[in-house]
Amino acid sequence: MVKICCIGAGYVGGPTMAVIALKCPSIEVVVVDISKSRIAAWNSDKLPIYEPGLDEVVKQCRGKNLFFSTEVEKHVYEADIVFVSVNTPTKTRGLGAGKAADLTYWENAARMIADVSKSDKIVVEKSTVPVKTAEAIEKIMTHNAKGIKFQILSNPEFLAEGTAIQDLFNPDRVLIGGRETPEGEKAIQTLKNVYSQWIPEGKILTTNLWSAELSKLAANAFLAQRISSVNALSSLCEATGANVNQVSYAVGTDTRIGPKFLNASVGFGGSCFQKDILNLVYICECNGLPEVAEYWKQVIKINDYQKSRFVNRVVASMFNTVSNKKIAILGFAFKKDTGDTRETPAIDVCKGLLGDKARVSIFDPQVTEDQIQRDLWMNKFDWDHPIHLQPTSTPSNEKNVSVVLDAYEATKDADGVCILTEWDEFKKLDYQKIYDNMRKPAFVFDGRNVVDCDKLREIGFIVYSIGKPLDPWLKDMPAVA
Ligand code: NAI
Repeated sequence: MVKICCIGAGYVGGPTMAVIALKCPSIEVVVVDISKSRIAAWNSDKLPIYEPGLDEVVKQCRGKNLFFSTEVEKHVYEADIVFVSVNTPTKTRGLGAGKAADLTYWENAARMIADVSKSDKIVVEKSTVPVKTAEAIEKIMTHNAKGIKFQILSNPEFLAEGTAIQDLFNPDRVLIGGRETPEGEKAIQTLKNVYSQWIPEGKILTTNLWSAELSKLAANAFLAQRISSVNALSSLCEATGANVNQVSYAVGTDTRIGPKFLNASVGFGGSCFQKDILNLVYICECNGLPEVAEYWKQVIKINDYQKSRFVNRVVASMFNTVSNKKIAILGFAFKKDTGDTRETPAIDVCKGLLGDKARVSIFDPQVTEDQIQRDLWMNKFDWDHPIHLQPTSTPSNEKNVSVVLDAYEATKDADGVCILTEWDEFKKLDYQKIYDNMRKPAFVFDGRNVVDCDKLREIGFIVYSIGKPLDPWLKDMPAVA
């Protein structure tokens, strides 16, 4: 029986390995992690991440050919193929701080694999890493290998949170990069044999190592760039009276462009886009390409601009102050159908409002109070470390933040409502009831374009919706970021 071990039981390691176990009953898959609480959760009825369809997949295989364990070294020792899906945070100190990837966790994993191995192994980079990481890992491993042979493959993950299971069942492509040597090609074929259990041959692309590593960074940069492009246009729409939904529909019907990832919003979030673009920027700078670095940096700058523009709209509309006003925040996750809050725009929006002394009342159907409190007080980039290494204390001035259990409680006696995640349930709320229970004038700031503006205006709300023609009220109160 082929044995797979995956180091890192996170958003990527957990779902990808569960699907491999489901589709390949003859392979034993063990997911290991240094975080005891995470492994305990994977072994419980309440999995550590919310992902539609994941519970069913785990339930079908756990205890049969899918296992979760903290015995990292034992399972690495026994495995034929070791996936590494650990955190790759942005460095906060030293060379490349604020841009370069911090490969501490990756390096620790590589050294441990070399230490405990007694047989040849294929080591698969699942984490998103800078180009040429495989080469560095290869050096670490061969210098510590004691005669054992390691083949390093790059197999970046393209799943999207919220649709991870669907994406893993039916991916657009699987990418495997390896050395262009007979041993490298053999390793590629071994991994290909795993995926070909359920993925058509034509969708499994093989490349050299560097192309695979760069393709992942490039794909995320292109996706984020589309969002920043439409968000940049949204501010022009507001200034001119064009409607960003109409513009993006008209643009997206061009088959050369396509309709996906063209929704204007308060900004992109998630653990990957910003981190991976910063990484790309750093690689460009290191390779003497400052103009190229500057080009990609702009994608992040527009994202930051969009978030502060949103906060400024809120404050400017409410007579230039939100001090002591109650603002309801509907949605905290970085997108719908996930409980993930990493780099969610809600953090910056809440911090901006709190900076203007607002009282915020937050509701998200999938995010816990503890998580929200931690997100609001954690330093930039600290979130991207194993849970047990993250700071746990929250400061005492959280009195202006409350986290509540439903949208009606969040909006009761509020002056304004900010919609920051596009959860389907926010479309179906009883906005008349919400209006009746709010202070007047009552404002809705829709950061995801989910509400029916005309209907809400009929009720009596003053509505701001990103990139849509402005309410007369807002026209008189321009917000310059
Ligand atoms: P995560 O933070 O959810 O999971 C990483 C896990 O690795 C943590 O549970 C941590 O405790 C564990 N870990 C760290 N060092 C370890 C070690 N030495 N031994 C054992 N366990 C260790 O991160 P996530 O989201 O799963 O991302 C992992 C990688 O995949 C990152 O490089 C990310 O950029 C990439 N990626 C993430 C996607 C996403 O949607 N979240 C999509 C595609 C790629």
